[in-house]
Amino acid sequence: MTFTTQVHSKLTLKKPTKNTPAPQLVFFADSNGNLLGNVSGEHAKRAERLIAKSSFSGELCASISDYGLDIDGSGITVIGAGKLEKLAGNIQKLGAATYKSIKNHTTAFINWGDAICQKHFSQFALALLNASYRFDRHFSKKSESDALKAVHFVNHKDSLVEYEAALSLTKATFKGQSFARDLANEAPNILNPSTLAKEAKKLAKEYGDKVELTVLGEKEMTKLGMGCFMSVSKGSAEEGKLIILEYFGKTKKTKKSKLNQPIALVGKGITFDTGGISLKPSAGMDEMKFDMGGAAAMLGTTKAICEAGIEIDLVTVIAAAENMPSGKATRPGDIVTAMDGTSVEILNTDAEGRLVLCDALCYVQDNYQPRTIIDAATLTGACVIALGSVRSAVYSNDEDTLFALETAGEYTNDLLWQMPLDDEYAAQLKSNFADLPNVGSREGGSITAACFLKHFIKEGQAWAHLDIAGTASISGANKGATGRPVPMLVQFLKAQAS
Ligand code: BES
Ligand code: MN
Ligand code: ZN
Repeated sequence: MTFTTQVHSKLTLKKPTKNTPAPQLVFFADSNGNLLGNVSGEHAKRAERLIAKSSFSGELCASISDYGLDIDGSGITVIGAGKLEKLAGNIQKLGAATYKSIKNHTTAFINWGDAICQKHFSQFALALLNASYRFDRHFSKKSESDALKAVHFVNHKDSLVEYEAALSLTKATFKGQSFARDLANEAPNILNPSTLAKEAKKLAKEYGDKVELTVLGEKEMTKLGMGCFMSVSKGSAEEGKLIILEYFGKTKKTKKSKLNQPIALVGKGITFDTGGISLKPSAGMDEMKFDMGGAAAMLGTTKAICEAGIEIDLVTVIAAAENMPSGKATRPGDIVTAMDGTSVEILNTDAEGRLVLCDALCYVQDNYQPRTIIDAATLTGACVIALGSVRSAVYSNDEDTLFALETAGEYTNDLLWQMPLDDEYAAQLKSNFADLPNVGSREGGSITAACFLKHFIKEGQAWAHLDIAGTASISGANKGATGRPVPMLVQFLKAQAS
């Protein structure tokens, strides 16, 4: 984002000068062609005249503009908000459409009047910012950057304090979400476990007074008994890393201080998933660079929390490895031992996410007393079949954590859907040769993966698992990382702090 954003309680325009060109004024109209938000004044009248002389119907995201030179030289754009009763569900689409319509102007005033509440304002502003996101670092010819320099949100409110706070959190969220998208979009020859650790180091440096970084390599992880993690990592020439970021948002950071019952975020960071010896088919395998989407989301969330200065203790643990076939790779049938002593028979080396995560979950429980643990992972294709790309799956053993996550998902429209953890599903996880196999049958594949993780959660430890295989990236022609569920997680953590 190269433009500034601000909220105002009314529309006041300065006389344009040579250096400050006249702005574009954006209004919204419903599907009856009426302007939203009780906006008034000469500019609103211009917008009404513009609607009256056109065939504009206020259809969602349709727009009409005049770049008129009358009055003070400002231009007018009216964007269709569609049917009012559906506006709540369309607010993000409208945010993206608004960005498109203003990006070629230097300054824009977005006139919501009294039509937008704080929650929808946050969703709208984040969608607008996200529409400006680009990942073009590898093109030799850069596309021209957009002209936009300043966006002013005009919301008719007596007090702007809450809207200013909402915008400030939105900007922090956008920064974190963009960081997550950058990490996940990066090519897998460039983004490997070591370079991911370097990115975490940069983050730790940027917020050094509150953040402490520890990176464990394979030697240390072997010593700690992380046999499951190592079974995935050892087939790759790239060294696996366990990346630990401590954020002291509540406890003051000193040389000796420790986090006080932090919330723990754990992310699956498979920087490329070939499937290992249980090799994946080649079609679309490039998209397995997104298999560190959980790690990206947790690092992005951490960055947003640092940026917003949320008063909470947080520990973020990233299990970063590459899943490759090689002479050193794990074979189907190999038996390894997790950090907590559980023996695991690896029946399918493509079910690697749960293997790196289980040791990370053991580590975080052994070294912290987490208030609750949230893990995020692009864990199963079965989750994509079940929920598609609309909602992330959430599994939890704790009602408070689950409710808080779902509430944050609703608030940000970064939605979740609860899935079951019944023992009857866990019953599929029976091995003839070890405590656990790493896969069940094909039936309920996302659920048995979650049951596998649950095995490593200690009695009484609150925990939730997010399967984001369908939501972390878009596949096909518009492929790319979404940065989900950063918005939900930032909102969740903010609510936990207050
Ligand atoms: N990373 C994949 C899951 C995935 C699939 C994410 C499609 C995004 C899109 C995961 O490591 C995997 O391969 N899971 C297997 C598990 C199976 C072997 C039990 C799967 O879903 O097929
Ligand atoms: Mn896999
Ligand atoms: Zn994977």
